[in-house]
Amino acid sequence: MTSDSINILLIEDNLAEARLLQEFLKDGSFKEFNLVHVKRLSEALDAIGENISIPCLYNIILLDLTLPDSQGLESLKPLMARAPCLPIVVLTNINDEQLAIEAVRKGAQDYLVKRQINSQLLVRSLRYAIERKQYLETLRALNQSLKSRVEERTAQLVEAKEVNQFKSEFVSILSHDIRNPLNAILLAAGFLKNSDDNLSDDKKLAHYQMIRSAIKSMSLLLDEASFIGKADSGNLNCELIGIDLIDFCNAIVKEIRLTASQKNIDIIFNFKGNSNEFLGDEKLLHHILINLLGNAVKYSPSNSQIIFDLIFQKLAIIFRIKDSGIGIPVTEQEQLFEPFHRASNVGKIAGTGLGLAIVKKCVDAHGGEITLQSQEGIGSTFTVTLPVIN
Ligand SMILES: Nc1ncnc2c1ncn2[C@@H]1O[C@H](COP(=O)(O)OP(=O)(O)O)[C@@H](O)[C@H]1O
Ligand SMILES: [Mg+2]
Repeated sequence: MTSDSINILLIEDNLAEARLLQEFLKDGSFKEFNLVHVKRLSEALDAIGENISIPCLYNIILLDLTLPDSQGLESLKPLMARAPCLPIVVLTNINDEQLAIEAVRKGAQDYLVKRQINSQLLVRSLRYAIERKQYLETLRALNQSLKSRVEERTAQLVEAKEVNQFKSEFVSILSHDIRNPLNAILLAAGFLKNSDDNLSDDKKLAHYQMIRSAIKSMSLLLDEASFIGKADSGNLNCELIGIDLIDFCNAIVKEIRLTASQKNIDIIFNFKGNSNEFLGDEKLLHHILINLLGNAVKYSPSNSQIIFDLIFQKLAIIFRIKDSGIGIPVTEQEQLFEPFHRASNVGKIAGTGLGLAIVKKCVDAHGGEITLQSQEGIGSTFTVTLPVIN
């Protein structure tokens, strides 16, 4: 068999029929045809082989519909399963042409009625079947690639829609949260304007302070929201520089003590392990620690203690912040790293619900992870682990 030749696998139990077909193909003008003859379906399946990914030895199957080990259309299924790309032409007797038509409906390319076959007819049918099958295969492949492109595009659209939905929810919550301090400002400003100097100095001061604190909380909300927006659009720069973490943490503890002292909360800072210069982004690390320590102070009762551990390991550094505050209900813990999520037990304690989302983004930017252990009414421990980069 040469590669240019057309190799036919004839499945026919009748030797005389097989010989006749062989004779038709011996005609000098049809030299490219080679015929391999088997008598049973099982032999044909063996001849085709198991591995359908290897190109098949044959170009076409000529199939008699009455075989000792398979009858009628039954033979089609296993052959098509074993060699899905091989065209099949069925051979039938004059009295079961209907069966042959049914075979064509089920996937055979053509049928030939025995006794009516001659060289021309046989060769024409074989060539036509091969062409038609190739055309169908191309169409099928095209269809498949079109289908997967449609699926891919649909997935992209769904994702874009989800992102859009997330953005519009984000904007709507943000506008809602800005309205509260804005209203407070309007109200206080209105009192001051309409007071005709009847207000005591203390009252005036209280209104001014209300305005100041509303402006402060609005500006915090806007800063936090714009940080999240920046991170979501992939514009969070992580500039690694060598940091002396003990100095760095001491400075942050000093900063947070200003607020903690108002509630008489003690912050105890410890470090363990061999301190090494750490490669990290100062601004992002500041966001992480200020938010976690700030939360610990905010959600702890007066006169309590916060323990802040810095642990140096060979491959990682660990920040652990433990408080004895209000804790977080277990079922709500996972969502708290999503923007605007606040636990149900915060009561009147003010907040934006953006701090932990920011912390998570900064931890991600360092390739680290954050975990939380907390029990409602007992306290919370946040643990940040960042890999050491050399
Ligand atoms: N140390 C903590 N103790 C108790 N609850 C906490 C603590 N830290 C965070 N939370 C809960 O997680 C929520 C989200 O925190 P965060 O994103 O910082 O927003 P918030 O502005 O409300 O503090 C908080 O509203 C609170 O319910
Ligand atoms: Mg917070």
